Amino acid sequence: MAGGDVKGRGTWATGIGFILAAAGSAVGLGNIWRFPYITAENGGGAFVLIYLGCIVLVGLPIMIAEIMIGRSTQKSTVSAFRELSGKGSPWISLGWIGVLCGFLILSYYAVVAGWALHYVWRSISGAFTGQSADQLQAAFEQLSTDGGQSILGMMIFMAITMALVLGGVEKGIERWARILMPVLLLMLVGLLLHSLTLSGFGDAFRFVFGFHADDLTGAGVLEALGHSFFTLSLGMGAMLTYGSYLHRKADIVGNSVAIALLDTGIALLACLVLFPITFTAGIETAQGPGLVFISLPIAFAKMAGGGILATVFFALLSFAALTSTISMLEVAVSYFIDEHGWKRRKATLVSGAAITLIGIPSALGRNWFDLMADFTSNILLPVGGLGTALFIAWKVGDRLRRDEFIAGSRFATFYGLWLGVLRFFVPIAVGLVFLKAIGINIF
Ligand code: PHE
Repeated sequence: MAGGDVKGRGTWATGIGFILAAAGSAVGLGNIWRFPYITAENGGGAFVLIYLGCIVLVGLPIMIAEIMIGRSTQKSTVSAFRELSGKGSPWISLGWIGVLCGFLILSYYAVVAGWALHYVWRSISGAFTGQSADQLQAAFEQLSTDGGQSILGMMIFMAITMALVLGGVEKGIERWARILMPVLLLMLVGLLLHSLTLSGFGDAFRFVFGFHADDLTGAGVLEALGHSFFTLSLGMGAMLTYGSYLHRKADIVGNSVAIALLDTGIALLACLVLFPITFTAGIETAQGPGLVFISLPIAFAKMAGGGILATVFFALLSFAALTSTISMLEVAVSYFIDEHGWKRRKATLVSGAAITLIGIPSALGRNWFDLMADFTSNILLPVGGLGTALFIAWKVGDRLRRDEFIAGSRFATFYGLWLGVLRFFVPIAVGLVFLKAIGINIF
């Protein structure tokens, strides 16, 4: 097996560095762009509650399993599954799914991230001020259908991502997570303080936390489950890869709890920032993907100081996306380093360029974009996540699993519970999402 020795692979310099980098991977467009609009589309409170249940009962147990595979082997995704299951084992395909997902998700994700970057520029240059709702709607449609602008935004975003990944684990990924994540939190709290002053805050709060059971549909339950994979970066080896740079003594369970808490907290905060703004401005919230790019600028255009708020918001969105794109690229880069013995530089340039090329069709048309988004979130991530759960729960030996779980952990007593959930509950729940994705609706 080429490469993959612990020495020279890079490790997180600090414990908090790992948490911030992994939380940076988790917190992204999924939290700030997608979660608020799917919450709105699914009627609020009850959906949020189910989503929280999915994070705790499905996402968190799988995250622990993924980080465990990475940490115990100190290898990236394909090499790690090979080491634990033996040469030629079918389980290695889980590693391949991860690398493939890294390429495919990043190829369309970078397009949306490019739009976010574009909106930073628009807000700084005052393009929203004095615009009517129709004009702002047309402006987004123009951007998202003008292939040239989308390609340019995507390319700039990919170039920044590649530059940071080139720096390596400690000097690139960790350093930037330590800078960007606190800034992101500060911006979010600043925007929250502003939303608190708006008259729509009370209604927004009741919308997100009030339990309206009658609004919940079967499709909503499954959407919540699917989103919990995406938002926690599970099922594609991102957490596995970051886990492979983790110190032997680090507490995997405690770290996973912290990452899941940060991710969930930020998704909820994003709702409490966005909904008061749209509620106060009296704008339709269930607008789908246009919530952030259309409704919000409409509201900002009506507000005093809206230009500054818009700049802060879209910068926040771009930062959140950046710490996620870094982790997706790292899955591909670490694969080439470990499996083919490439230097980080070559691995980053080649995979980054390939992903940018694959992204072009997503920038050019909605059909390809939707195909990529649906295929990865509805099929590849559930398969990858389910496979990882089955692998750790049924395939690896109890010794390895238990040692990894209890090493340095305050949560050692939960070992039996975690294993039970991973063995039985997770396969059934994920199985349902998967059936829905291939068109079989149980609900
Ligand atoms: N979790 C990221 C988000 O919510 C997306 C992501 C998926 C990142 C898979 C890495 C791997 O935006």
